Amino acid sequence: MTETALLIGGGGREHAIARALADDCSLYACASNRNPGIRRLADGFETVEETDADAIVAFATDVGADLAVIGPESALEAGVADALDDAGVYAFGPREAEARLETDKAYQRRFMREADVPGCPDFEVFDDMDAACAYVDEYDGDLAVKPAGLTGGKGVKVIGDQVTAEEAKTYLRESGYDRVVLEERLVGEEFTIQAFVADGEFRATPAVQDHKRAYEGDEGPNTGGMGSYSDTGPSLPFMEAGDYEAALDVLDAVVDALPDYKGVLYGQFMLTAAGPKVVEFNARFGDPEAMNTLPVLETPFIDVLTAARDGDALPELEFSGEATVCKYAVPDGYPTDPDGGARIAVDEESVGDALLYYASVDEREDGIYTTTSRSFAVVGRGDSIAAAEAEADAALSAAGDRVRIRHDIGKPELLEKRTEHMAELRE
Ligand code: AMP
Ligand code: GLY
Repeated sequence: MTETALLIGGGGREHAIARALADDCSLYACASNRNPGIRRLADGFETVEETDADAIVAFATDVGADLAVIGPESALEAGVADALDDAGVYAFGPREAEARLETDKAYQRRFMREADVPGCPDFEVFDDMDAACAYVDEYDGDLAVKPAGLTGGKGVKVIGDQVTAEEAKTYLRESGYDRVVLEERLVGEEFTIQAFVADGEFRATPAVQDHKRAYEGDEGPNTGGMGSYSDTGPSLPFMEAGDYEAALDVLDAVVDALPDYKGVLYGQFMLTAAGPKVVEFNARFGDPEAMNTLPVLETPFIDVLTAARDGDALPELEFSGEATVCKYAVPDGYPTDPDGGARIAVDEESVGDALLYYASVDEREDGIYTTTSRSFAVVGRGDSIAAAEAEADAALSAAGDRVRIRHDIGKPELLEKRTEHMAELRE
């Protein structure tokens, strides 16, 4: 039987999901922007706000969707999974209550403490910013300051890394947050593991390392992610035997404590000298990480979705064994002062064997326009990270001058820096 699937969201992550599904089902999609890649793959596309649960349910019903995949966290926070489930359309994405794992960082840390999930840093939650500032003064060590709500990955300030203690206090006083989490600064190398979850079990995918900082050499403000890489196996070059498995133990404890969780569980880890600690959980695929994972997933993604919906055991996942490197092209000035509304030329032919994913661009009659977020990404694949990097970088040679790229992602120098950093910390 051909399934009818509805995809919600219009970024690079969702373009990757669309490509993973399009050949195996009848695919419909909706998003607030017209992503040309998704529109071409889908049998039907509707412009809808990702948070408009009623409109999404109406579209799902119209097209006769059997199941839905929710890309962005904004939709999860707005209860889109709940609304679809209640309308009889299985949503691969957690309901609002379970999505709090991502949408409420205070809940996330308290949940970890109560459920005894390993890898939780020292933390305190504050509703009073003066008390938070006093805690910054008295805490012995550096802290990470995190607004409790969603900020697109851009609200966290780490003392001793991005800001001084004084700047952190000014930030606490002036940013107008109602609730913040102050937690121990974790030092190490970050990696992500995404897992498919349903009915109390999960299947994990290979680790990925994202690059949050805007500029080469890990300088500049945090972004949604400038690019990412994965290796030929589940682990990454800077990780040692047992690190990947230790992170899986964390995901296992979460799934055990949240038996109703369904969808993607994304663990963001800091590999410290004492092993992996949890930076955060997300309740959906990562963007860009989905673009590393789905192109090398050989198990049809639709089989994961239907097993989850039907209460069957999730399939064991098979991967191609290729390394991947993903690089984003972002509008000039992103993330602080992005040049939205610029018309960009994307030469699809010039990417060669690399994969091209459109992200937060808007397709209009006369061309493709940037928004204020990331524009498009390319993914190279190969039998080593170096080979995948070369393919991705070559594909970006024709990106034009209205976008910015972190060319250093996946290059041998940066990989060596990561491995040396971990070796120093582990001495
Ligand atoms: P989050 O929104 O929680 O993913 O945080 C954004 C980024 O801030 C992370 O990817 C880390 O680079 C950094 N960060 C968050 N929490 C911590 C922490 N406890 N220690 C060090 N860095 C952190
Ligand atoms: N790449 C980070 C995220 O998707 O949140």
